Amino acid sequence: MAFWLSLCVALAASHFPLCVATSQYPSTSFESKCSDLRHAAQPSNITPLYSEYVPAGTNLVVPGLDPSCFNSTTIHVDICRLGLNVTTSDRSDFIMEVWLPRNWTRRFLSTGNAGINGCIGYDDMTYATELGFAATGSNNGHSGQNGTRFLNNLEVVIDYSYRSLTMSTAIGKHVTDKFYGKAHRKSYYLGCSTGGRQGFKMAQDFPDIFDGIVAGAPAFNFQGLLAWSGLFHSIIKEVGPEGVPPRTSWAAIDAEMSSQCDHLDGAIDGIFEDPSLCNFRPEALICRPGVNSATCLTGKQADTIRRFLSPVDGVNGTFVYPRAEPFSGIVGSILSVYGSEQFQYTDHWFKYAVYNDSNLDTESLTPEQWEYAFKHDPASVRTYSGDLTQMRDRGAKLLHYHGLEDPLISSASSTHYYNLASRTMSLASADIDRFYRYFRISGMSHCLGGTGASAIGNRGDNMASRDPTANVLTAMTRWVEEGVPPDFVTGTRLQDAGAPGQVDYTRRHCKYPLRNVMKAGGNYTNVDDWHCVL
Ligand SMILES: *[C@@H]1O[C@H](CO)[C@@H](O)[C@H](O)[C@H]1NC(C)=O
Ligand SMILES: *[C@@H]1O[C@H](CO)[C@@H](O)[C@H](O)[C@H]1NC(C)=O
Ligand SMILES: *[C@@H]1O[C@H](CO)[C@@H](O)[C@H](O)[C@H]1NC(C)=O
Ligand SMILES: *[C@@H]1O[C@H](CO)[C@@H](O)[C@H](O)[C@H]1NC(C)=O
Ligand SMILES: *[C@@H]1O[C@H](CO)[C@@H](O)[C@H](O)[C@H]1NC(C)=O
Ligand SMILES: *[C@@H]1O[C@H](CO)[C@@H](O)[C@H](O)[C@H]1NC(C)=O
Ligand SMILES: *[C@@H]1O[C@H](CO)[C@@H](O)[C@H](O)[C@H]1NC(C)=O
Repeated sequence: MAFWLSLCVALAASHFPLCVATSQYPSTSFESKCSDLRHAAQPSNITPLYSEYVPAGTNLVVPGLDPSCFNSTTIHVDICRLGLNVTTSDRSDFIMEVWLPRNWTRRFLSTGNAGINGCIGYDDMTYATELGFAATGSNNGHSGQNGTRFLNNLEVVIDYSYRSLTMSTAIGKHVTDKFYGKAHRKSYYLGCSTGGRQGFKMAQDFPDIFDGIVAGAPAFNFQGLLAWSGLFHSIIKEVGPEGVPPRTSWAAIDAEMSSQCDHLDGAIDGIFEDPSLCNFRPEALICRPGVNSATCLTGKQADTIRRFLSPVDGVNGTFVYPRAEPFSGIVGSILSVYGSEQFQYTDHWFKYAVYNDSNLDTESLTPEQWEYAFKHDPASVRTYSGDLTQMRDRGAKLLHYHGLEDPLISSASSTHYYNLASRTMSLASADIDRFYRYFRISGMSHCLGGTGASAIGNRGDNMASRDPTANVLTAMTRWVEEGVPPDFVTGTRLQDAGAPGQVDYTRRHCKYPLRNVMKAGGNYTNVDDWHCVL
């Protein structure tokens, strides 16, 4: 069987240039099979760039990447690495890699991207191959954290929205099956942030590609998200320096937020298990005689905090984005991330993808401009239908998680999506549970880190265990392959100072809509002193 021929047939439906493929695949050692890979005949829209054997222990450094992309990773298992340049139209293309581990579990996995990049997820590919998956990743159709290539080029936006992923997956599956000489048994997807949105895009609109999707902190409702993230900078500019809580007040704001909300889950540990229950009242910090004027707030500053923590409505009060969920640290995070200049993703997206106008002023986008972005929705990137019927009917599974200390994408957006899906499909949670489960991860920041038990195996650098009860990726393979769904996700708090890798404590994160509550008299570091309640 010619190496690429069946790929040509498989991709014919996506208007590929004519495929010419004739060569026979030789069967020799892993190493030589690998280096031969780049010489295999291929469809005319695919140009092999390199194929090389990379032994375990190699610190792989990829030259020539945009400086905004991570360019190095340490490979822990023997792999074969193939790079391809794939043309998607007469004005668009992407770079992809396929990593084939010597010790293959017959599983295939695609990785996602981040922000508005532009960067292959080498860290996720490293993690996946370590666990025995054959893995692919792509640069999503452009290079770096930079949206300039979207300008006047809908094809590049289509690649960003979904096509780089669907095509790189089709190619990756084909290469995998041919390389090993046997078909992969199951296919998976792993991604966070923009990668989370890509996972939901697959779940909603391309339900046949993956058997199991792990999607974290999704950048779905993409236009709404970028409207919301852009609004912080607009507010900070509008209220001026005297309306912004000074840095000297941030610790007091955190302490007040904790004092109002930390106890709601039964534990005073600085971590909010259900921020949706927290209705923070910044007015409690308003200056009065006898209070340190460096740490108290003016009415105007309290108003700024309220605006930071409010949902965003659009023209005629339509839904744009839910509120930023409160957590201790959020006000400082917002001011640090969005303070000095307009958020780059909002700026680039509205300039280059929505308006085709590199001179657009994005400092203070209006509700009418948000509305325009919703209406225009280039390449259907919004990803917010709430309809998962097709993946459910096919028997695919979706594991969704979101860190409750995420300052970049509000965890309320994930909760909102779950409830949107419930209404759209007219399903109660007991029925959604059969194919889609959402876990709120307390103490987790954006995709990793945070103050709590946030190591859940969603990334190689955020993993404490491979056990399916404490690792969202192996939880997914178990769900798909053994029919055992995860009822909770045990997160691990790793000590960061002194003894790296040492476990501080673990905590079970509940499946929405359950929330985590500590039992009376419990010790918050004791996993069994907590339970999930409705
Ligand atoms: C990799 O990235 C680092 C940091 O951006 C940079 O200093 C280095 O030159 C890059 N290496 C290569 C080979 O491009
Ligand atoms: C990939 O192919 C496109 C179109 O042929 C070309 O413009 C681009 O420079 C290539 N990229 C790389 C990294 O080879
Ligand atoms: C191959 O992978 C399996 C499953 O992950 C593992 O149990 C085994 O130890 C691995 N073998 C080698 C030689 O790495
Ligand atoms: C984005 O790319 C353009 C064109 O290559 C470049 O001029 C610009 O500086 C880049 N912007 C960022 C933020 O990297
Ligand atoms: C931006 O340019 C592309 C390509 O010319 C076009 O398809 C798209 O409709 C344009 N968008 C707007 C808002 O004009
Ligand atoms: C807002 O309401 C006005 C008056 O009813 C209507 O004409 C307009 O189309 C509405 N706009 C949107 C975006 O819903
Ligand atoms: C909670 O448990 C930890 C670990 O067992 C222990 O070190 C700590 O003293 C306990 N705290 C209280 C208040 O009992």
